[in-house]
Amino acid sequence: MDDEKIPFPPEDFMRLVCGGNDPNVAEHFIWAGKLVTAMLRDEKMILPDTCFLDVGCGCGRVARYLMNMPLQSYTGFDRHSGMIQWCRQEITPLAPHFIFHCFEIKSVYSQTDGEYGKIEADDFCFPFADNSFDAALLASVFTHMPLKESAHYLYELYRVVKPGGKILLSVFFSDREPYRENANFYYDSKEFLKMVGASGFDYRFRETLYQHNWYILSKQIKPFEKYHYYILAQDLRAYCRKQDFG
Ligand SMILES: C[S@@+](CC[C@H](N)C(=O)[O-])C[C@H]1O[C@@H](n2cnc3c(N)ncnc32)[C@H](O)[C@@H]1O
Repeated sequence: MDDEKIPFPPEDFMRLVCGGNDPNVAEHFIWAGKLVTAMLRDEKMILPDTCFLDVGCGCGRVARYLMNMPLQSYTGFDRHSGMIQWCRQEITPLAPHFIFHCFEIKSVYSQTDGEYGKIEADDFCFPFADNSFDAALLASVFTHMPLKESAHYLYELYRVVKPGGKILLSVFFSDREPYRENANFYYDSKEFLKMVGASGFDYRFRETLYQHNWYILSKQIKPFEKYHYYILAQDLRAYCRKQDFG
């Protein structure tokens, strides 16, 4: 399927996810979608057996390119009802394994888009089972969330991503004090990375592109789980000896 055959979302939706008053918003929309897709591919986060989670998926800027790729499932969620409605109408009929959810989460974005929400982001429990995703994306989402909310999302991500699973995300950093400018949040880099480590993830810096600092987080097996697997391995060895398998 040719991805550009999917219609473009309404211009105001593209502006909400691209930001600014770019006169060529459609070009910017395509460019960013392809760029993130290329990073996901490069990081081997799009594979035929991957269950993929797109947090703050907007109007499918990345989903429209993932539709052409082998993926077991794609789940996207956002707080903007119109954008999710658009994805459901235009993407899911062409790719039924692409599911979109809208949750009424409060955000600084409400000042711009009038979607006020009911649930505080740092109280929002992702309605997904533990260890249900192999890969997750937050493309320019933490860039619009205070650190406290991002901390809670990291906790939720750790819960829903499988051990060995990976996350690609972007953040803005400030070399002065952390600060907020309209709907953009600039974190202290040390504070953010400390929080990532404390959430149980290993992390690796990937690149900085247009102020966005891209990181890869990986969920390692916890010490407790390592011990648990060690016991299982011992049991397996004992079982093999008993069965005389060598
Ligand atoms: C800059 S846009 C990026 C959208 C999409 N990730 C993309 O790359 O096209 C940020 C998105 O995050 C969503 N968002 C903001 N706060 C959120 C939250 N707490 N939970 C989920 N989505 C959120 C907004 O509604 C918006 O669609």
